[in-house]
Amino acid sequence: MRTMKHLLSLEALSGTEMREILNRVPAFKNRRGQHDRPLAGQTWALIFSKSSTRTRVSFEVGLRELGAEVLFLNAGDIQLGRGEPIKDTARVLGRMIHGAVIRTFAQQDVEDFAQFSGIPTVNALTDAEHPCQILTDIFTFEEQRGQSIQGKVVTFVGDGACNVPASWIWAAARLGFELRIAAPKAYQPDAELVRKAGGSIHCTEDLDAAASGADVLYTDVWVSMGKEAEGAQRLKDLAGYQINDALVSRANPGALVMHCLPAYRGKEITEETLEAHADTIFREAENRLHTQKAIVDWMVR
Ligand code: CP
Ligand code: NVA
Repeated sequence: MRTMKHLLSLEALSGTEMREILNRVPAFKNRRGQHDRPLAGQTWALIFSKSSTRTRVSFEVGLRELGAEVLFLNAGDIQLGRGEPIKDTARVLGRMIHGAVIRTFAQQDVEDFAQFSGIPTVNALTDAEHPCQILTDIFTFEEQRGQSIQGKVVTFVGDGACNVPASWIWAAARLGFELRIAAPKAYQPDAELVRKAGGSIHCTEDLDAAASGADVLYTDVWVSMGKEAEGAQRLKDLAGYQINDALVSRANPGALVMHCLPAYRGKEITEETLEAHADTIFREAENRLHTQKAIVDWMVR
């Protein structure tokens, strides 16, 4: 019997599975609108407890292009937002729809939804991970450079303790590239997570050293969704952990500057550096669509 596939985290994927997904992306990108529709006759739901532009639109469009009808459910509009347990919501929806894409706070909620719904479930960002983003970023690097990311150096700058660097950590460990995380001590990833992942992962406060010889400089917002109350303190603590032209000059020639977006200019990246690398950064955003179609196709076939 075929076991049901989910995409709940990169931690749960092997390097081989990541490659199976990445290898499917070009077909979806090149044959947009002219590929199979494996979700024909199905209804999928997006259940979001946090804001989204890229993830919401790319999943709504991508699932439709794969043949599905799509429901967007703002968690605040359904009983989940009034305290109905996730396992009850999952058991109801699992009897009515064919797949779910969830953006929420606790990782356990997407794990529970997958378990209790019995339908394919995608993590569209939790406090712990953003797996669809990082698979997209790796596809984008390899597409743009025409080379495997294996053996390359990715330097993450900024809040190293949030969901985006956590998914980078698992990707680095599984796909064999070096990951450097440049962040103040209090914003470095949990040491136990880094130890558990293994691979070549280095955390440092020395931004210039981390950028030296990098093939990718990557950043994310300093104030993640859910951390707004700490906003002013975070801006103070993270000041300086910014991607700017001076930092880019330390990286390898031709290094890619990447950002998952949304970007806050003058904070984690300067206006000039963002605009100079807009081709890569907005290509990442576009590739969310193609990569997520490949993810869903991999899950349901
Ligand atoms: N990068 C990303 O996930 O963007 P959204 O929050 O707009 O979905
Ligand atoms: N770390 C950010 C990512 C946004 C796409 C957040 O969680 O808000």
